[in-house]
Amino acid sequence: MTNKLDQLQQNIAQAKLGGGQKRIDSQHSKGKLTARERLHLLFDDGVFEEIGMLVTHRSVEFGLDREKYLGDGVITAYGNINGRLTYVFAQDFTVFGGSLSEAHAGKICRLMDLAMQNGAPVVGLNDSGGARIQEGVVSLGGYADIFYRNTLASGVVPQISAIMGPCAGGAVYSPAITDFILMVENTSYMFVTGPNVVKTVTHEEVTSEELGGASAHSIKSGVTHFSCANEIACIADVKRLLSYMPQNCEDTAPAVAYTAGNELRPALNNIIPPNANQPYDMREIIAQVVDNDFFEVHKNYAENIVVGFAHLAGQSIGIVANQPAVLAGVLDIHSSKKAARFVRFCDCFNIPLLVFEDVPGFLPGTDQEWNGIISNGAKLLFAFSEATVPRITVITRKAYGGAYDVMNSKHIGADMNFAWPTAEIAVMGAAGAAEIIFKNEIAASADKSAKLKEKELEYTQHFANPYRAAERGYVDEVIMPDQTRQKLIAAFNMLKNKVAKLPRKKHANIPL
Ligand code: HXC
Repeated sequence: MTNKLDQLQQNIAQAKLGGGQKRIDSQHSKGKLTARERLHLLFDDGVFEEIGMLVTHRSVEFGLDREKYLGDGVITAYGNINGRLTYVFAQDFTVFGGSLSEAHAGKICRLMDLAMQNGAPVVGLNDSGGARIQEGVVSLGGYADIFYRNTLASGVVPQISAIMGPCAGGAVYSPAITDFILMVENTSYMFVTGPNVVKTVTHEEVTSEELGGASAHSIKSGVTHFSCANEIACIADVKRLLSYMPQNCEDTAPAVAYTAGNELRPALNNIIPPNANQPYDMREIIAQVVDNDFFEVHKNYAENIVVGFAHLAGQSIGIVANQPAVLAGVLDIHSSKKAARFVRFCDCFNIPLLVFEDVPGFLPGTDQEWNGIISNGAKLLFAFSEATVPRITVITRKAYGGAYDVMNSKHIGADMNFAWPTAEIAVMGAAGAAEIIFKNEIAASADKSAKLKEKELEYTQHFANPYRAAERGYVDEVIMPDQTRQKLIAAFNMLKNKVAKLPRKKHANIPL
């Protein structure tokens, strides 16, 4: 009896050692934590229940029959994060470089099945050399089993991928299907083909970090939503991200404590500059309106639009805001895709949407047209139009052209539309409009420049305000900026039981 109990204790101790102390030391020497250390940081009080600790691979080729490690390079576990059930897998780089075998994939699939059946988020801590090379196609099959589950779980339970080491080849597609990706600076990378293949095929000389490090993917490609200074910061961001989400698509996000008080924010009356062409930072407005906790997503990518989570009167909301401080807040391909993806996430998981609008239109030019601003801009239009969560827009300044329609207008299903007195709602800016509609008058004038200025002013006085839209009910209320928080709290509260259904269909065909 004692022997049997001892044997179990030995097995557990062995499993906890992963690939052994030497490899654990090597992991630490690279500035990385082990899979188990990461899990202790992620779960509340470091407590989790492990599933499949004694699983091993079944391969015999290339000497694998002589090399087995309990757990086979991935820890699958469940426990509480922020007091709520969460399923987590953590790849163990000390075991075959965290590479994915058939058995390793089976453990992840089992975890995902449980998460789906029990309606709780899945977090993946990725640190892997990719497919277990000695296993061949069964490893590839294992990846596909995971991709398939990622896809089926999309929109059912939140899925988060933290990249904490290598993530290469087709392995990148599991994180890509999940809702959010976080990368650790300097110790993680993601690419479809590494620097050597790149050199052979395109003759480009590039390091792993340059090609697929956290900065490349947080600034250039937008593949990652968060770039984290180190693993501890990354795990803290995963926890914070989860705190804004419900457990699944049938649930609502948890509310945080909030005591009603004076909701007027006088500082908001002084943010819009006197000159409509002068920039300002939309984040200043967001900071005044929310409960002090804006958590920005995709902070360094397509900065002409700002997206992120916050609480308003304790309720979780998603914010999409044009950013006049970058490219005048224009909508382009990247910003449209960034915002559309965020809107889709919020709608999947019943998180109400708040839009701040100051947009001069879509970015003109061959680069944008030839790269598909039409179909990419349509993504955002489609995402807003399909969203059935409570949706409110605040027009702070410009709402020009097609961008007026796209940025959560009443016409595409927004529930409430507020405008500040500084709002300008028109087909285009006054100068461009005057040049077109008064073309002949200007051409016939002796002083063309003075005439243009005069006509520009006429157009401005006519349309550069919110009142034409308010007359039609396109704007529900023109409000003083300092009332914004108070008005939004009341309106979201009024909308909290909103029920909206889309027409019955198999699924829509978003312009991908
Ligand atoms: C089996 C692997 C492995 C793999 C690493 N190891 N990758 N074992 N299959 N894919 C093992 C190593 O043999 C080594 O074992 C240990 O993990 C650590 O690896 P090192 O090379 O010593 O570590 P490091 O120098 O940090 O380099 C890490 C690495 C490198 C960059 C990930 O190991 C590497 O390039 N590995 C191969 C990556 C790869 O080509 N994978 C297949 C991609 S294709 P010991 O015993 O010494 O500790 C793919 C297709 C997926 O994944 C398709 C899905 C659809």
